[in-house]
Parts: sequence; structure tokens; C-alpha cells
Amino acid sequence: MTTFKAHMKQNGQAKAFPRLTETSRLPEITKASHNRKPILITGGAGFIGTNVAHRFLSIGQPVLLYDNLSRPGVQKNLEWLQATHGDLVQIEVADVQDSKALCKAARQASKVFHLAAQVAVTSSLIEPIHDFEVNARGTLNLLEALRGLENPPPLVFTSTNKVYGDLKDVKLQMNEGRYEPVDPNLREHGFGESRPLNFHSPYGCSKGCASQYVLDYSRTFGIPAVAFHMSCIYGLHQFGNEDQGWVAHFLIKALEGSPINIFGDGRQVRDILFVEDLIDAFLLAHDHMDTLAGEAFNIGGGPANTISLLELLDIICELQGHRPETQFADWRSADQRYYVSDIQKFSTATGWSPKVNVRDGVSRLYHWLKEFHAVQSVPVLKTSEHPTRRNKSSCRIQTNGASRNGHQRAIKTASRIKRLAPIGNGKCVDRKLTKIS
Ligand SMILES: NC(=O)c1ccc[n+]([C@@H]2O[C@H](COP(=O)([O-])OP(=O)(O)OC[C@H]3O[C@@H](n4cnc5c(N)ncnc54)[C@H](O)[C@@H]3O)[C@@H](O)[C@H]2O)c1
Repeated sequence: MTTFKAHMKQNGQAKAFPRLTETSRLPEITKASHNRKPILITGGAGFIGTNVAHRFLSIGQPVLLYDNLSRPGVQKNLEWLQATHGDLVQIEVADVQDSKALCKAARQASKVFHLAAQVAVTSSLIEPIHDFEVNARGTLNLLEALRGLENPPPLVFTSTNKVYGDLKDVKLQMNEGRYEPVDPNLREHGFGESRPLNFHSPYGCSKGCASQYVLDYSRTFGIPAVAFHMSCIYGLHQFGNEDQGWVAHFLIKALEGSPINIFGDGRQVRDILFVEDLIDAFLLAHDHMDTLAGEAFNIGGGPANTISLLELLDIICELQGHRPETQFADWRSADQRYYVSDIQKFSTATGWSPKVNVRDGVSRLYHWLKEFHAVQSVPVLKTSEHPTRRNKSSCRIQTNGASRNGHQRAIKTASRIKRLAPIGNGKCVDRKLTKIS
């Protein structure tokens, strides 16, 4: 286990998120000057970890962030947390593959959030063994560390909707800029936990395997633990890239003025959940651990917060006043055409429901990326120069040839389109982003 300061001394500053300003000094490592046991957050320097840490730190609760800083740019999150919260933040630069370091960290913890992971399907296809070692073995290391304790602290583990596979058996139909299931029940509620597990991609396998271990360690060894099968999470402190974190990635690309690659036809649908709502769910899971332990829950924005890739381009168009440039490429391996979480099991058990809707959440993330991280907008091309714009007055989606006609037809379906209060040039189109009736 290495302190953050020592890590920086040995390795120099890790390559930062390219568009962040190189501002502040590196944070000094501080040992918490308090007596309360910290909350252990593995992967605590990452996007979700930083937000969880901030929530606890804001009420004076110390945290121990356990992270190997392998994700480029995340040391910026540590700098920010330390600048904001001082010595309530304890940082250990260590790998979840290091079982001794993990044991030491687990011994100190009052609660655990296990977020550290190799997070990208794409990387798992290139290095499946590394993916397994971090996600499956790393989780088992943590569970073993907890099993060795007399009173193991409760654990929330973050798994993924990829445990349900590519869902190719689900019959879909096209509706405007999106896919939707033919089955009205699925359209109304999304996929519940009774959906058979069907791990696809090495990432799906390693996270699914880890999630099964978490549930079994709860069942077999009495470790108070739950697993969240999470859909797409987005929010502040997210440095999304093409491999993971698509909402933030699209926004960053748009702000940079770089083309966005769309893999597939862009009609893929996800339910997206703003990170603050996820943290509410995390807290409730810990509060209700007595009754929830040993259970898996599908967690996401649910049917009320769904969006397709093309629809996100619409929102970006409204925010920026012009359409981001796009390029289309082949479908990615195991990409689900439609995944929406049925969140009823967790909602019924805890009273939780998402509060931040898609439009507000995306707008908050967009403005945060723009304002605080100096992702600069590039000058807007004149319409005549812009490769993806054909209609001067429109922010409508331009898709690849095969799908354009259907999409344009759909745009004309007035009953499915409602006008927004004008943003930017006032000529953007709003597609339905909420529950599909
Ligand atoms: N963001 C999402 O949409 C989403 C969706 C489903 C599941 N999840 C899961 O939620 C968790 C957090 O995701 P995130 O979006 O915050 O990702 P992130 O990449 O921002 O954070 C993960 C953190 O883990 C650290 N890490 C990676 N390998 C490590 C290792 N071997 N040892 C110690 N630390 C390591 C990284 O440096 C990073 O700070 C992950 O487990 C991910 O699989 C995320």
C-alpha cells in the first residue's frame, strides 16, 4: 500500500485528463485527524467514488479512498476532494489485487463501497485476464478480507446490467430515434432481477462473477452485502471516454468540437441515472442492510429516464445551439439495443426513486464540464462547411443513410414531439425522453 504522496513521488504525475487545466498543486497526503472509523471506498478516486466521498465528507464523515489511480485523470478528483475537505480524506494508492493492503484497509472501515474495477467492455476484450484479476479476483480479495473480520462492515458492490447479456432475444420495434420492446410490459417496467443472468463479454463475466460471489458471501458467511446491477450512471466528476461513460464522453466531444463516433445506428436506449440519485440509493441500501443483504437490485434511471444516443445528440444541440459532428461505425460486441432497469424491487424495499430527470442531469453535467474543467467550445462551423448539417435551421439528427428516412419520418410524427422553451437558436427539437406509453 502506498500513500498518494509517495505514489506521486515514485511515478510522477499521472497523465491527466487532457482537457483539464493543469492548475493546483498535488495534494499532501493526510492521515485523518479524527477518531471515527472511515468509510472505505475502493475506486474512490473515480467518478462515482468521488461523488460518494463528497457526500459523506460534506457531513463530516471521514472516508478512506483506496485506488490505484489507473484511470487517467482521477488524481484531479483527489486533489479536489482534499482541497475541499482537508484531512477528513484519507487516500491509499493501492491495487485491489493486493490482498494484504486490502485487508488493512477493510479492518479500518465502518462501511464499504466496492467500486474499483476495470470498467470498460472494450478493454476487457483486449486484456481479459487483467479484467478478471481486477474485477473478479479483486472482489474476492475484498470479500476474504471482510470474512476475516469479527464484525465485517456492510458492503455495497457495483455490478452492471451487462450481466443480462446482449438481450438479443427481446423483440424490438423502432419508434422515432430509438428502439423499444414490442412487449408492453417490458416497455412499461424495464428488465427486472428475474431476467436470467447471461454474462456477455469478459467484462460482463468478471463483474457477473464478482456479483455472484458478493451474494454468496452474504448467504454463506453472513457478510452484510448487496449487489447493484447498474445501468448507465452519469454526473459531475465523470471523465467519460469512448470506452466508458458515454453521456459525459458525448458532452466532452461536443464541447471540444470533435466528432462523436456512434457505434451502431444510435437508436440504442439506456435508462440513465444521475449520480446523486445513485448515492441516495447507496445510503438507503446501507440503512436497510438488515433486510436487503444477499440481494441483487437493478438500479438505473428506470422507465422514466430513458434516452437513446440520437436523443442525447438532440439535447446537446439544444445546449450548444448547434449539432455535434458524428461518425457512424459498426455495432460493438454485446451492445444491448435496449436496456432499461426495472427499479421496482429496490424502490418498494426502500422508498427510493430517481429525482433528477434526463434533461436536468445532462444540462448540469454539460455546464459543469464547460465551466469547471475548461473544456473549450470550438468556433461553430458555418452550416455550409459543417459535414453533418444539411438543414440550416435544424438541430435534427442526421444519421447514416440506411436509417435516415425512418428517422426523418419519425420526426414528423407530431404526437411524439413536443417543443421546448427555446435554447440557443431556439430551433431544436425535443423527442420524448420519458416513459414510453
Ligand atoms: N459509471 C457507470 O455508468 C457504471 C455502470 C455500471 C457499473 N459501474 C461500476 O461502478 C464502479 C465505478 O465506476 P466509475 O464509473 O466510477 O468508474 P471509474 O473508472 O471512474 O472509477 C473506477 C476507479 O477504480 C480505480 N481502479 C481501477 N482498477 C483498480 C485496481 N486494480 N485497484 C484499485 N483501484 C482501481 C480507477 O483508478 C478508478 O479511479 C465500477 O465498478 C463500475 O464497473 C459503473
